[in-house]
Order: sequence, then C-alpha cells, then structure tokens
Amino acid sequence: MTGAFVIAVDGPAASGKGTIATRLGEAYGLPVLDTGLLYRAVGVLAKRAGEDLDDETACAAAAVTLTADQLGDPALRTREAGELASRVAVHPRVRDALLDFQRTFAGQEAGAILDGRDIGTVIWPQAPAKLYVTATPEVRAERRWKQLQGQGEAVTYEDILADIRRRDARDGGRGAAPMRPAEDAVLLDTSEMTIEQAADAARRIVEAARARWDAS
Ligand code: CDP
Ligand code: CDP
Repeated sequence: MTGAFVIAVDGPAASGKGTIATRLGEAYGLPVLDTGLLYRAVGVLAKRAGEDLDDETACAAAAVTLTADQLGDPALRTREAGELASRVAVHPRVRDALLDFQRTFAGQEAGAILDGRDIGTVIWPQAPAKLYVTATPEVRAERRWKQLQGQGEAVTYEDILADIRRRDARDGGRGAAPMRPAEDAVLLDTSEMTIEQAADAARRIVEAARARWDAS
C-alpha cells in the first residue's frame, strides 16, 4: 500500500454522494471535504462582487481569494448557489485555483474522503477507493426538492428537475474535468435505495477496496 487511504465519491447533483461521504467519514473516522462547496463559494463570491460569471479571469480571481472559513456560509446551500457553482466550474483557471486546497486535504496522513465530480479522475486518481453515485434525474429532483423545501426555499419539483438536467449537461459537457466515472470507480445507483441502504452498499464497496489496499 502506498500513500493515505483516500475515498473518492463522485456523482451528479443530489445523487446522495454527500450523505454517503458523511456516513463513510463517521464509519472510518476520516475527515470529509464536500468539494462542491468550493465552487459554490466561488460562484457566490463572484456574483456578490458583480462579476460576469462567463468571465474566466474575474472568476479565477475570486477563486484565489477563497479561504476555508468561508465554506460554512448557509448561502452556499441554496438552489441559486448550485447554479452559480456549475457556471464558474466550467473555467479551467477556476479549477486550477482550487486544486491545491483539495490535494492538500486528500494528502493528509490520516487519509480523507472527498466528494465532487472529478475526485477520482483529476484530483486524486490514485485513490484506492472510488465510488460513482448515481440516481435517475427524477429521483434526484425529488430529493433535492424536499431538501430545499426543508430549508424554506419555495420552488416547484419541475423547476428542480430542469435545474438538475441543465447542471448534468453542463457538468458532463464541459472541456475541463467533465463529470464522469473514473474507469476504476464502482457505480452505485441509489435510485431505489434508502439512505441506510446506500450507506451500507457504500461501506461494502469501501471494505473490498480497503482489503485490496491492505494486501497490496
Ligand atoms: O450538491 P450538488 O451535487 O447539487 O452540487 P455540488 O456538489 O455542491 O456542486 C455544485 C457544482 O459545482 C456542480 O454542479 C459542478 O458544476 C461543480 N463541481 C465541480 O465542477 N467539481 C467538483 N469536484 C465539485 C463540484
Ligand atoms: O451530495 P449530493 O448533492 O449528491 O446529495 P445529498 O446532499 O447527499 O442528498 C440530497 C438529498 O437527498 C438529501 O436531503 C438526502 O437526505 C436525500 N437522500 C435520500 O433521500 N436518499 C438517499 N438514498 C440519499 C440521499
């Protein structure tokens, strides 16, 4: 075995990857980074500064100023922040500006779990455990709709389904680090799973990866 035990959890919006990453973090005592928060924070910062989100230089400048203490802002959890995030995430220079932070987190001696879109393909391709969490767009829209209602956002299910489809197309279609499963990722379709079932399935995948890693 070489390096730290890193678990990469990738997948599209509202597939349940954050929930799975948190559960795995509890199960294995590993620190968890929700990398989507970085892009959400850059989008919100750029918007607040009145920048054009299609302006790569302006968005990269916002990304460079980002600090970890800005990631707890509840404004990052809104529907709008998700949309802003996927718009700034298409810019290669924004992605480059966020690389060091993510790789430093992944490289810590204790090991780590990161969830996002490109953890297994770009950020930490050497991760010994990689999951790609999916669910149908309709199931994901239902989950996100309920989640946002719980946060007090008044939106319709149809609006959220349209958001999800638009974000899937943008995240999967961009040139820089497009959303896609790593070749060695294990696909986990949670469409018909409860949170408990998804967390159990994820643990089994990680146990198998851990056994291979211990033996190597
Ligand atoms: O929670 P949800 O899946 O809706 O979104 P998120 O993980 O917070 O990510 C928000 C947006 O950031 C995504 O739609 C991607 O455009 C971008 N993102 C990315 O490009 N790469 C990552 N590693 C994480 C997020
Ligand atoms: O991180 P990501 O955007 O992929 O999704 P999440 O934040 O983990 O999950 C989105 C919502 O779906 C949360 O409110 C979860 O509690 C819920 N969820 C669910 O209902 N069933 C699952 N199997 C997984 C998540």
